[in-house]
Amino acid sequence: MSDLRIAVLGVGIMGADHAARLTTRISGARVAVVNDYLTDKADQIAAGIEGCRAVADPLDAIADPDVDAVVLATPGPTHEKQLLACLEHRKPVLCEKPLTTDVESALGIVKREADLGTRLIQVGFMRRFDHEYIALKSMLDTGELGRPLVLHCVHRNPAVPPNFDSAMVVRDSLVHEVDVTRFLFDEEIVSIQIIRPAANPAAPQGLADPQIAVMRTASGKHVDVELFVTTGVGYEVRTEVVAANGSAMIGLDVGLVRKSAPGTWGGQITPGFRERFGQAYDTEFQRWVDAVRDGRMVDGPTAWDGYAAAAVCEAGVVSLNSGGPVEVAMVSRDSIPGA
Ligand SMILES: NC(=O)c1ccc[n+]([C@@H]2O[C@H](COP(=O)([O-])OP(=O)(O)OC[C@H]3O[C@@H](n4cnc5c(N)ncnc54)[C@H](O)[C@@H]3O)[C@@H](O)[C@H]2O)c1
Repeated sequence: MSDLRIAVLGVGIMGADHAARLTTRISGARVAVVNDYLTDKADQIAAGIEGCRAVADPLDAIADPDVDAVVLATPGPTHEKQLLACLEHRKPVLCEKPLTTDVESALGIVKREADLGTRLIQVGFMRRFDHEYIALKSMLDTGELGRPLVLHCVHRNPAVPPNFDSAMVVRDSLVHEVDVTRFLFDEEIVSIQIIRPAANPAAPQGLADPQIAVMRTASGKHVDVELFVTTGVGYEVRTEVVAANGSAMIGLDVGLVRKSAPGTWGGQITPGFRERFGQAYDTEFQRWVDAVRDGRMVDGPTAWDGYAAAAVCEAGVVSLNSGGPVEVAMVSRDSIPGA
């Protein structure tokens, strides 16, 4: 079988990384087309990949007859239009999170895909492919910890870009813990509250950082998340499940521990998400390519997962402004056959 020919749309931080991943580490696929709003950037990436060309219009790139499947690594606000084009052309698509940036358009995408009667959209919640999250999930599924009761999460970044605002802490950072909660517990989140402790003096003016998210699942499990995106320290993502027969934690970042004179010990903190989740992105892409090649089209989080995450984050942003707990408004999955 010949290699899957992929179009990568948006070759910024993630897209350039994904193009390199597909070219050097993933088997059964090659990057045939790249596109970026900044055409020079696309030309430059295309020049570095054998058999790859730049296409100036994203919709032309999706429709291109030499393209079998699409990777969307463009900014969230452009996803809706580009996803609809992928559906129209029946092209499988791995869409970086978020599915779309608002609940209505996310639901519209879920319905449009369900109308086609075939799944084509996978959403890039890569933590589901990380070895540590997979181990935690399988421990919960085998029941060896007993009934899970509480999830404690920490999500810290050393710094964020200057345009990162308080709502983005919810929509861009917390969204991963929202998906992790749904993945680990296999149930929806029904309410969310965002608490704003005193702000970090080093955070840009107006940025509510840190934030504490408190979520409740449909069966009553408690989830809390410390979000702190201006620590100046490193990338720290920890997840602890407390269950009836014990607890389990991942993300301790324990690599090499050095002891040396004068009486010190310690190691290195992972600098960023690309280093921490490099293996997860590789596994995510290999499994997606394999699924598209054998006709399953999706092997991971679906459009519904993208919609559910958008609904929880929407309620989170309301709570960020009101301070109180907010119920998550979602349609029932059964109301959309095929979703
Ligand atoms: N899964 C993860 O861990 C993770 C991490 C970071 C970002 N993301 C997501 O990946 C996506 C890209 O993020 P990024 O950090 O690479 O952003 P980025 O700004 O570095 O890259 C986006 C690129 O898209 C281009 N672009 C903008 N509008 C376009 C359009 N209409 N058509 C084609 N190209 C367009 C920009 O010129 C830029 O090169 C976002 O959806 C983001 O939320 C996911």
